[in-house]
Amino acid sequence: MSVPFKLSRGVLKTFPPPIPQAYAWAAKYVPTIERPLLDMAQGSPGYPPSKDLLDALSSAASQPSTARYSDVLGDMPLRRLLAKEMEIVYGEGTRIVADDIALTAGCNLAFVATVMGLADAGDEIILPTPWYFNHQMTLDLLGVETVSLPTNAAEGFIPSVEECAKLITPKTKAIALVSPNNPTGAVYPSALLASFAELAHSRNIALILDETYRDFILDSPPHGLFTASSTPWRDYLVHLFSFSKSYAIPGFRLGSIAASPAFLKHVEKSLDCLQVCPPRIPQIALSTHDLLPALRPFIRSNAAAIAARHDLFRQSLPSSWIIGSQGGYYAFVRHPFGGVKSNVVCQRLAEEMGVVSLPDGFFSNSQVGEAVDAGTWIRFSVANVDDDKIARVCERLKESETRFRWPLTP
Ligand SMILES: Cc1ncc(COP(=O)(O)O)c(C=O)c1O
Repeated sequence: MSVPFKLSRGVLKTFPPPIPQAYAWAAKYVPTIERPLLDMAQGSPGYPPSKDLLDALSSAASQPSTARYSDVLGDMPLRRLLAKEMEIVYGEGTRIVADDIALTAGCNLAFVATVMGLADAGDEIILPTPWYFNHQMTLDLLGVETVSLPTNAAEGFIPSVEECAKLITPKTKAIALVSPNNPTGAVYPSALLASFAELAHSRNIALILDETYRDFILDSPPHGLFTASSTPWRDYLVHLFSFSKSYAIPGFRLGSIAASPAFLKHVEKSLDCLQVCPPRIPQIALSTHDLLPALRPFIRSNAAAIAARHDLFRQSLPSSWIIGSQGGYYAFVRHPFGGVKSNVVCQRLAEEMGVVSLPDGFFSNSQVGEAVDAGTWIRFSVANVDDDKIARVCERLKESETRFRWPLTP
């Protein structure tokens, strides 16, 4: 299909959205009652929003005032509540105020607006590889060069600060990290994030930290960046968050940026063009009667259930499938088929076994940056399914070993 007028170089360079490709494979599977399709592809909450939130959403939707435009950076009541909530998540000593917060139509849009505020076409942003595909696609669309910082299974897919420092050039505008990571699930230790903060601060570049999955870390605050006095966070950090997973409302499109008000002044320019204002229904629902803080037990119980599901997945996986790392929503798994690329494995798993997952080729590529051991990894979204489906997926993976008739890696 060709377009009879000229297109941007950015859009021509950008890869097509990968998730529809996985679902095109899945569409070829013929499900039965005994063998339904088992979808572990998209990072989509397998649990509904809380009843209180559902009620608040419908009540907000039925108010005529909700239909109006509001502030570019979002409504103050929710910005205030989110700032307070972050003080709870990041622990004592955290100082974040409403003026440090912008609300966005989802975290992806927060990333686009942030990059528009930091980089021009031809500038560089460093991404650990494998990367979250929408981050890399955004850079391509905007003509910003992706500089790949490879990570590997032996190091738990944790990026090296020393290697990152070597990649910084006069064109570098930011380092963009995701923790817990998509696709690897790796949770970056607090000390590592402190070192990245130090590096970014000392080289006068921004550290973009996407913490879409931060609420799925159970045991401690995700890091101490917001409390550190040596490197004040507003001097280098652009923090991104999504309401999609924690509150199970991906379709309502709400995300946030926490950064200095001075930086947000600039981001406001792109947000005005991209969103005019963030979606009002979820903003109003989450701030009416201070609902946001009341949902923390809902978040904690889902996080505990997903952590238990990760354990179940690890225990149930056939022994020839090796987990490289696990956390947040995802497990990154080495498939057992010697010499067969993971995109071919994922295609057959979807079409013949009814198990939908994503190959590492969706999160790296030879043009921009190849993953270490490319072709051997598959991402499973553990949060999409219930415990029963986890067991069924693992049974079918075992079955695929004989059915596919490919040699197994010894
Ligand atoms: C790292 C990361 N950032 C952002 C998003 C998108 O979030 P939102 O739905 O808020 O745009 C996702 C969704 O999968 C993600 O994994």
